[in-house]
Amino acid sequence: MPVLRLWSSLQAHLPITLLKGRELANYEKNVNRAIHKYNAYRKAASVIAKYPQKIKSGTEAKDGVGAKIAEKIDEYLTTGKLRKLEKIRSDDTSSSINFLTRVTGIGPAAARKFYDEGVKTIEDLKKIEHKLNHHQQIGLKYFEEFEKRIPRSEMEEMEALILQELKQVHPDYIGTICGSYRRGAASSGDIDILLTHPDFNSQSKKQPRLLHAVVEHLESIGFITDTLSKGDTKFMGVCQLQNNTGNKNKNYDHRRIDIRLIPKDQYYCGVLYFTGSDIFNKNMRTLALEKGFTLNEYTIRPVGTTGMAGEPLQVDSEKDIFDYIQMKYREPKHRSE
Ligand code: TTP
Ligand code: MG
Repeated sequence: MPVLRLWSSLQAHLPITLLKGRELANYEKNVNRAIHKYNAYRKAASVIAKYPQKIKSGTEAKDGVGAKIAEKIDEYLTTGKLRKLEKIRSDDTSSSINFLTRVTGIGPAAARKFYDEGVKTIEDLKKIEHKLNHHQQIGLKYFEEFEKRIPRSEMEEMEALILQELKQVHPDYIGTICGSYRRGAASSGDIDILLTHPDFNSQSKKQPRLLHAVVEHLESIGFITDTLSKGDTKFMGVCQLQNNTGNKNKNYDHRRIDIRLIPKDQYYCGVLYFTGSDIFNKNMRTLALEKGFTLNEYTIRPVGTTGMAGEPLQVDSEKDIFDYIQMKYREPKHRSE
């Protein structure tokens, strides 16, 4: 296949190709439960999105896009269609299972179970609400609201409120809104907050109060409206800004919010990880390994010749992590892949 010509003609089709890739990726994850195929599509999308600035040859491009996906791109460019996608779209099982996983709390396995019981739509779910767990019930209750993206302006309002209220609970808290918002996205799917406190590190004992005090305060001011799950270090729930403007037309939607409490010495590895993107994280982890380090959401550790990971390295900023692996620092807004 003439890969280079293929890539250049892809330019015109780029957004639509990426969208179709995402649809196929979701199918592999939710219906087929083939996570490696899901990852292959995600990786291919990232390679295509980067072209042509960073890919200098067809061979290089082929590294990121396997033969099967390259074939699909070719099929789409020559026929304007993808048979596999048409088949998935017209298949009741695939489209129903894919749909059900859009409800938070319903994963691929639960979706298939519901489907096998004849439950396929939101209306069907409402009829068997008593069979849903608490997380799924909240997912159903706010289904339409959670489907909406959060505009950046609203993310900014929430950031200001959260950071201000955090200081009310205790002035020493440190908080960062991570996720796509920190990468500068025009809209976000949810709010990802990381919290730490100087009194809390990975050697000291657990301090769930540090998390719960913040959650309870945000509940008391009416910002947090529902809880999906609450552990010692992770809260998953729902929040909503209140309309204090006197403008009756302004109504805020309910939004998904995750709050994580992280030991201070692991905070910047956490901030790096939860800023993403997930593809950027994967690429950075791979580079770290090449340089002899193992990097995850908690720590960066040197890997010895035996393959054993050593003690965590000291990290006082995100930049420290880039420095250890001799990677040029990338601002969050340049971390899409
Ligand atoms: P998400 O909130 O799922 O992603 P996001 O904030 O980038 O996008 P959205 O606007 O749709 O909310 O997860 C937050 C970050 O956590 C993500 O950017 C990178 C990291 N992450 C991974 O590295 N791997 C994963 O599988 C997930 C779910 C997240
Ligand atoms: Mg997010």
